[in-house]
Amino acid sequence: MTNAVQAAALPPGLSARNYGRLAQVIHDASGIKMPAGKQTMLEGRLRRRVSALGLPNVNAYCDYLFDGGDFETELVHLINVATTNKTDFFREPAHFDFMTQIALPAIAETGRRQVKLWSAAASVGAEAYTLAMVMEEFRRGGRGPDYSILATDICTEVLNQAASGRFHSTMIDPVPLDLRRRYILQSRNPGAEEVRIVPALRAKIAFARLNLMDNAYPVGSDMDFVFCRNILIYFDKPTQERVLSRLCDHLRPGGYLVLGHSESAVGVSLPVVAVVNTIFQKV
Ligand SMILES: C[S@@+](CC[C@H](N)C(=O)[O-])C[C@H]1O[C@@H](n2cnc3c(N)ncnc32)[C@H](O)[C@@H]1O
Repeated sequence: MTNAVQAAALPPGLSARNYGRLAQVIHDASGIKMPAGKQTMLEGRLRRRVSALGLPNVNAYCDYLFDGGDFETELVHLINVATTNKTDFFREPAHFDFMTQIALPAIAETGRRQVKLWSAAASVGAEAYTLAMVMEEFRRGGRGPDYSILATDICTEVLNQAASGRFHSTMIDPVPLDLRRRYILQSRNPGAEEVRIVPALRAKIAFARLNLMDNAYPVGSDMDFVFCRNILIYFDKPTQERVLSRLCDHLRPGGYLVLGHSESAVGVSLPVVAVVNTIFQKV
């Protein structure tokens, strides 16, 4: 095929004007930076949505989004497409070691009976289910407090998967074997590639859509742990500072804010002290 024939066979790519418009609404609605270098990625990810709507190409999608009359509904789908949801069970395991070895023994010492945890950019729930396993392990033998977990995300697709507790079997590779036996159900169907978190753990977690860009979060102000990992990197500095400050409002004094390994609250004026790398404690 000549280049000219190839070009004719492809649907027209996103125009610069339309990419600018999409990048702006995504940034305004979610805080996610969309520099020009992300155009190809966004276009690729939009293809499924474009064809689900029966539209001929991404430019027609922009007409539909901006002039179709139901901008708010379509925006939810666009944000689903724009988010990067990569996650893992026991991701950055030092955070969970810190909980087990330092934070939870200190909380248990005070005699407190209930611990509240928030996974604030939860993706498909691997972080929240990891927290549940850590809490269950700590409680084994009856020494630890009871707990509840709130898991929120802006992306409705990942939240649906998270709430189902179903995962591809390869995703649980990082979960230690004894924990897999206790907290993960294998399918009865031999050869099935899906596993499921046990109902007792699923019952401990509430999943909800929450946009960290919102001016106020409908969440209690007595969290013991707020995990907000691997999301701040997608935001610009002023947005990071606003989100961090709002998250701190939801920590009880002594509660912990836990960030991703390449994120920091250093240099931001917050009511916290650094405890160890990427873990901060509210004063
Ligand atoms: C890379 S994942 C990180 C998941 C998990 N915290 C971890 O570290 O494994 C980032 C998540 O942040 C979510 N996200 C992006 N913008 C958001 C916003 N404005 N409010 C809430 N969640 C957002 C994405 O949908 C995505 O699931």
